[in-house]
Amino acid sequence: MKKLPVIIYLALTMVTFTSCKNENKESGEKEVAEVKVQQDEDFRPNFHFTPKENWMNDPNGMFFLDGTYHLYFQYYPEDNVWGPMHWGHATSKDMINWEEQPIALFPDEKGYIFSGSAVVDKNNTSGFGKDGKTPVVAIFTYHDATAAEEGKEDYQSQAIAYSLDEGQTWTKYEGNPVLPNPGMIDFRDPKVIWDKKNNQWLMALATREKSLFYSSPNLKDWKKLSEFGENTGAHDGVWECPDLFPMTVEGTNETRWVLIQSLNPGGYNGGSGTQYFVGDWDGKKFTPVEGMKSLEEKHPFWIDFGRDNYAGVTWSNIPDEDGRKLFLGWMSNWLYGQEVPTETWRSAMTIARELKLIKEDGKYLITSEPVKELEKYREESITKKDLAVSGNYVVLDSSEIDLAKAEIRFKIEDLKKTTYNFRLSNSSGEEFIVSYDHAQKQFTVNRSHAGKNDFSEKFAADNSTAPRIADSDELNAILLIDKTSIEMFFDDGKTVITEIFFPSQPWDEFSFTSGIENFQVSSLEAFELNFDQ
Ligand code: FRU
Repeated sequence: MKKLPVIIYLALTMVTFTSCKNENKESGEKEVAEVKVQQDEDFRPNFHFTPKENWMNDPNGMFFLDGTYHLYFQYYPEDNVWGPMHWGHATSKDMINWEEQPIALFPDEKGYIFSGSAVVDKNNTSGFGKDGKTPVVAIFTYHDATAAEEGKEDYQSQAIAYSLDEGQTWTKYEGNPVLPNPGMIDFRDPKVIWDKKNNQWLMALATREKSLFYSSPNLKDWKKLSEFGENTGAHDGVWECPDLFPMTVEGTNETRWVLIQSLNPGGYNGGSGTQYFVGDWDGKKFTPVEGMKSLEEKHPFWIDFGRDNYAGVTWSNIPDEDGRKLFLGWMSNWLYGQEVPTETWRSAMTIARELKLIKEDGKYLITSEPVKELEKYREESITKKDLAVSGNYVVLDSSEIDLAKAEIRFKIEDLKKTTYNFRLSNSSGEEFIVSYDHAQKQFTVNRSHAGKNDFSEKFAADNSTAPRIADSDELNAILLIDKTSIEMFFDDGKTVITEIFFPSQPWDEFSFTSGIENFQVSSLEAFELNFDQ
């Protein structure tokens, strides 16, 4: 658990001036407040979900029903830092354009509402269905803050709530908790799926060093099946937000099971991060395939190597005809998430992504790419070919494309053992630089001069790095650039890097920069994305 500073937040929208004695002071304060609100709006993403006001962290309870994608999220509606958790709610027809809904779950005498999941209980196994209405059941963690403060160990337990109006309003089950704490500090984040083959509800739950698996016939009675994770994977922190599900290997009929497992700290670049394992599930036990088990130097399997994608999980109830595994994460990091320079709202979600399981040279790998729904927002398109990069080559500037809502795709063929750089820069001299060193097969991200960073020492002091997973001499990239974030998908999503930044002016140039050796970019396509449709 995080130790959280409670700061009193200047409620900008509610500033009431009680005294008329000092009108100058009053108007000065108002101006400051207005400037801050404006600055917050300047930082508010164009196409990533943010709450209208206040604090958000993990995505929760994501499910799809009757044409609508639901996204719940850890939410504290009274402050811009973490506090007593609620489930906020947003809905979308395409996972891109989100509409915030009323708060779904409020904390109560049993505790705060921590992360969890939601399932559509089509067969009414829970018995919550009424008058032919299908229940949606949310499974979440109760966090009893008072018990935690008193030093008790059993302050987290699992509970359920149901909705008979497609996720708009919820009733908590009177028999809660459905899974009491067995005496474990950190016992949370239930992710439930229907395990078709074994005819059971299956829950993955995180505790410190491992994931625990439980089964249930009715979402109310849970039985422990097994544990996974001690001595496997990355461990320099607490395991949180697991997600266990089957996937078909692309282009085959082979099914394997994937466990997505966030941990904090201990991510690839320190701080928060999300690793994964590929393996088999026999109805009781998860066994990773060879090569996943290693306790070697650094766990190599990460959903995203960047610093800003955490606690992501997948949507439930995606129809078979669609068949995609759809994922979204919290685009921040516990290292500095509560200090980023926005005050009226804090944190965004990543773009929704499609995960794929591939097998290459006998090795399993999860790839991710932006969902195809984003394509319908493409407008202007610019195509360039055979760019000879020598020094700084400005490829795109803001007169051609708005770099605060852009998708850029490029390809470099015939990679040499040299360093390839690209950067975003602005007229204030700020720059965000990404380098790919083909000799080391490593990406490096430098955001130390990318705008505001004095809010936390941990934000930009170091560069982040990511290994290139693909083994080919052709690099392809998709970059999604919003006002305060970039998501980079290299090699058809084999290496993904998500990072946030806070430039004091919008980026006005995108360039490639050569180091010792010049290089050639074979092709580039850029789209301005338009969300005013
Ligand atoms: C992950 C996490 C979860 C917990 C929630 C509390 O970011 O720590 O483990 O349920 O946030 O807000």
